[in-house]
Amino acid sequence: MSTSRRDFLKTAGAAAVAGAVAARAGDDASADAQAEYSAQFAAAKIEMVRIGFVGIGLQGGGHVQNFLKIPGCRITAVCDIREERTTWATDQIVKAGHPAPKAYTLGPRDFERLCETEDLDLVFTATPWEWHVPVMLSAMKHGKHAATEVPAAMTLEDCWAIVETAEKQRKHCLMMENCNYDWPAMMAFNMVRQGLFGELLHAEGGYLHDLRGIKFENRNEGLWRRAWSQKLNGNPYPTHGLGPVANCLDINRGDRFDYLVSMSSNSRGLQEWAVDHFPEGAPQRQEKFVLGDVNTSLIKTARGRTIMVQHCTNLPRPYSRINLVQGTKGLFSGYPHRLYIEGRGRADQWVDAATLRSEFEHPLWKEIAAQAEGAGHGGMDFIEDYRLIKCLREGLPLDMTVYDAAALSAVVDLSVRSVANSGQPVAVPDFTRGRWKSTPPLPIVHM
Ligand SMILES: NC(=O)c1ccc[n+]([C@@H]2O[C@H](COP(=O)([O-])OP(=O)(O)OC[C@H]3O[C@@H](n4cnc5c(N)ncnc54)[C@H](O)[C@@H]3O)[C@@H](O)[C@H]2O)c1
Repeated sequence: MSTSRRDFLKTAGAAAVAGAVAARAGDDASADAQAEYSAQFAAAKIEMVRIGFVGIGLQGGGHVQNFLKIPGCRITAVCDIREERTTWATDQIVKAGHPAPKAYTLGPRDFERLCETEDLDLVFTATPWEWHVPVMLSAMKHGKHAATEVPAAMTLEDCWAIVETAEKQRKHCLMMENCNYDWPAMMAFNMVRQGLFGELLHAEGGYLHDLRGIKFENRNEGLWRRAWSQKLNGNPYPTHGLGPVANCLDINRGDRFDYLVSMSSNSRGLQEWAVDHFPEGAPQRQEKFVLGDVNTSLIKTARGRTIMVQHCTNLPRPYSRINLVQGTKGLFSGYPHRLYIEGRGRADQWVDAATLRSEFEHPLWKEIAAQAEGAGHGGMDFIEDYRLIKCLREGLPLDMTVYDAAALSAVVDLSVRSVANSGQPVAVPDFTRGRWKSTPPLPIVHM
């Protein structure tokens, strides 16, 4: 971080938040590190967060509805290439009793006009992957904080671009990794913090979701996601699997991704699906796909831990994000959510995680579960939106930094490079430029 950014953030209300992040009791070094962290990553408090929303499709629509229920924010501008979506959002916003937002619908770069002309605190994008970085760069260059759906960026170059722009413009650049807020992920994190699994050695995550039907639809993700399967062979969507385990392993906060190896299976699923679902002669049957149906990457961290991350969206299979963290005393594993701690319960037998929720549920989940009920993806989307607004309003560091957005998203490009080179190791850039060594771990956050 440049000296100017450090100075700005120190003067921009950071003093007010030093100490707001809970330090480990009795640990002065940790308290100092937390204060330094707050000084680096917080920004001035915003009483009423004015949001410009870009890309209001399936996922964007869910966020819009969440923000209408969260106190202290207003959506004052909306942008989509489809006017019916800005109209839908305007209806929702007006129905909630707020003034109609200004709508931007003049094509795929109209978000630039929104970023340039609107008086906003935050620009939030839930556009297709290829638009995340252009929208965030424009937002930050025009003095707004930026938040994006996942992954934040698809290339290493773009990962560096968001890091450098956030530093230069002194703005938050947040990747909205909702899976960090799911109850099993948060419970595992809470248990890791209590040391119940001992010293962590290994983790696994993934995005294993049969999207064949969705990829071939003539709307929403079908209009853009299938195209990535035609041009990218690696892991295009690593952050749902990596987010929760990166928090447990203190990635960018005491450890970091060091290098990665990746391999892809053959590509068969979409081709077979097209043959089974479209008549002979249909153009879909002629499409060529390069994305290996099962991509597996292994990441080694600077402290010697290992992480396996998988992607599989072109084959018939039940849903899973794996969500496994393993240490010297036991492990937590997802889908089904279960755990094992040596000396607790029967030897060699899994314990159903749900049966221990009252004992180990993350405090944030206990506090907010009732409000999150009914919101997208089992409530976790509401919790992440709530945390974003709370942190902006109180001038707290966000739950993820731009360095997290870059490191987790970099796995897209790095996996492609490794796959293309017969699984050769590729170095993961240190986007923090060494600060991962002194940045304190993510605390147990609250409502
Ligand atoms: N976190 C999650 O659980 C989760 C779930 C689904 C999707 N997503 C992410 O959300 C994003 C959107 O996915 P989706 O399912 O909502 O897709 P979608 O296709 O339903 O929505 C995308 C929207 O962006 C609009 N759009 C496209 N280009 C635009 C541009 N240049 N300017 C303005 N608007 C533009 C489209 O018209 C559409 O309304 C993706 O990044 C995806 O990975 C995340």
